[in-house]
Amino acid sequence: MEYPNETLKVLMERRSLRAYRDEPITTADRQAITDAVLRAPTAGNMMLYSVIDITDQTKKEMLAELCDHQPMIARAPMVWLFLADYQKWDDYFQSSGAVEHGESLGHSYRPPGTGDLFISLSDALIAAQTAVTAAESLHIGSCYIGDILENYEQVRDLLELPRYVFPITMVCFGYPKGPWKETIGSTPRHRADDIFHTDGYARKDAEQLQQMFAAHDTYYRQTGRVHDEIRDTAHAFYMRKHTSEFMAEMNRSVSLMLENWS
Ligand SMILES: Cc1cc2nc3c(=O)[nH]c(=O)nc-3n(C[C@H](O)[C@H](O)[C@H](O)COP(=O)(O)O)c2cc1C
Repeated sequence: MEYPNETLKVLMERRSLRAYRDEPITTADRQAITDAVLRAPTAGNMMLYSVIDITDQTKKEMLAELCDHQPMIARAPMVWLFLADYQKWDDYFQSSGAVEHGESLGHSYRPPGTGDLFISLSDALIAAQTAVTAAESLHIGSCYIGDILENYEQVRDLLELPRYVFPITMVCFGYPKGPWKETIGSTPRHRADDIFHTDGYARKDAEQLQQMFAAHDTYYRQTGRVHDEIRDTAHAFYMRKHTSEFMAEMNRSVSLMLENWS
């Protein structure tokens, strides 16, 4: 397909890749991805995120288990954990004497709050997606691991995460084993009209929702997730995801992270 430019081609042809060539990411490619991440937009230019490069094979294997048993994590040549990080600013405020100075002027110390967390999460996710796009432009496939939100206590202990560091997402990177995009095709998406609203939120009724998910129904029927018993995308996702044990665990784990932060 023809696209107006190379950037749009990279964005339009990206797919998640879950099986990788057993080959490290070259130093030049790793550097290029790193440089792109460092130029990502960041709130107030504060870079409220950090990235842990997971190189230790034992840790990769433990994370593969902690993230709902996904062995591809252990096999991925490059695994980056993106952290919302307000700890470094809090430490900096304290160690530089800024807190003391503020107090002498009547500004009492305020620990990081929920707003600080959310803006740090924005930074970390923007950094992650920048890495994904940069990797894709270098013909390196990637896959997000949202399940890093599970098992907070173990992840925290394994990676020594301090209080104001929130592990928001992990990304696996690797070179594809061969041509793959042609064979898997692309996953379905809603139409622009279903996603973009004008000047206010337009809540959808039952019929509009059925129409909105029609392409998904067709796709998931082909992949076997939707069938006579599980009759549409709603049934499939309600059973497989929304009421699943792993989502219950994710909700428990994130509640604990939030408690810990506040
Ligand atoms: C926040 C987030 C979390 C995800 N977590 C996982 C995951 O834990 N395991 C996995 O195999 N894919 C994961 N994915 C990949 C999605 O399943 C994938 O993006 C989606 O199915 C659409 O396919 P595509 O990326 O090939 O277009 C995640 C994607 C995002 C954005």
